[in-house]
Amino acid sequence: MSEEMLIELDLDHFRKVFNKYTIKAFRKLPKLEKPRILDIGCGSGVPTIELAKLSDGEVIGIDIDQESLDRLSRKIEQKGLTNRVKAIKCSLIDIKFPDNSFDIIWAEGSITSLGVEKSLRGWNRILKPKGFMVIHDEIKHFFKKRDKVASCGYKMIEHFSLPEEAWWEEYYSPLEIRVKELYKKYSNDPAALEVLNIHQTEIDIVKASPKSFQSVFCIMQKL
Ligand SMILES: C[S@@+](CC[C@H](N)C(=O)[O-])C[C@H]1O[C@@H](n2cnc3c(N)ncnc32)[C@H](O)[C@@H]1O
Repeated sequence: MSEEMLIELDLDHFRKVFNKYTIKAFRKLPKLEKPRILDIGCGSGVPTIELAKLSDGEVIGIDIDQESLDRLSRKIEQKGLTNRVKAIKCSLIDIKFPDNSFDIIWAEGSITSLGVEKSLRGWNRILKPKGFMVIHDEIKHFFKKRDKVASCGYKMIEHFSLPEEAWWEEYYSPLEIRVKELYKKYSNDPAALEVLNIHQTEIDIVKASPKSFQSVFCIMQKL
């Protein structure tokens, strides 16, 4: 995707509407002094930055997409957070941190890349004893595996769903208005139109069945 179109679309602006749910999930955790937090599949870091604001700890965001990490690195600089927030290129399939490294693992929209069970099992070793695992993903992905939480080494503390049509009403519908504006602006630019078509296709899928796209936050603790 061209950098210009990314700036024009400003997906982070739309993504930020869900920060209120990140805040709600974070507040369900006990107060931890300077926690070490790993944000897995951080993307351009909307939750990463929010976690840094919510905690007085160190936050490391990992992702495989260098462009997203570069955007996050620029935000870290702009917000003066270089002393405690880092963006590192690392695959969630093969995380290189030592055992017992983190107080909190945070994963919004990334657990299905590896699968719920494999992720919970695989990431367990880098959490400190009694550390917290917070997942935000589509309900259909997580709830099928909910009974596996204990066998993967965690207890479920709490979970809450986003309102039924939140993704449509709060994210995709406002994004569609922006995409329509950009279709007009770039009507003679095939490369731009290609990018917009990708987003419009995703919007159309959710629009056709807004209730089927619902997500949940799950807050777990390592046993
Ligand atoms: C839906 S986005 C979520 C981004 C961010 N957590 C958020 O909530 O805004 C999923 C992210 O997972 C990342 N991802 C997918 N497969 C990955 C892998 N194997 N290793 C690391 N990151 C991965 C993608 O690059 C993408 O940034």
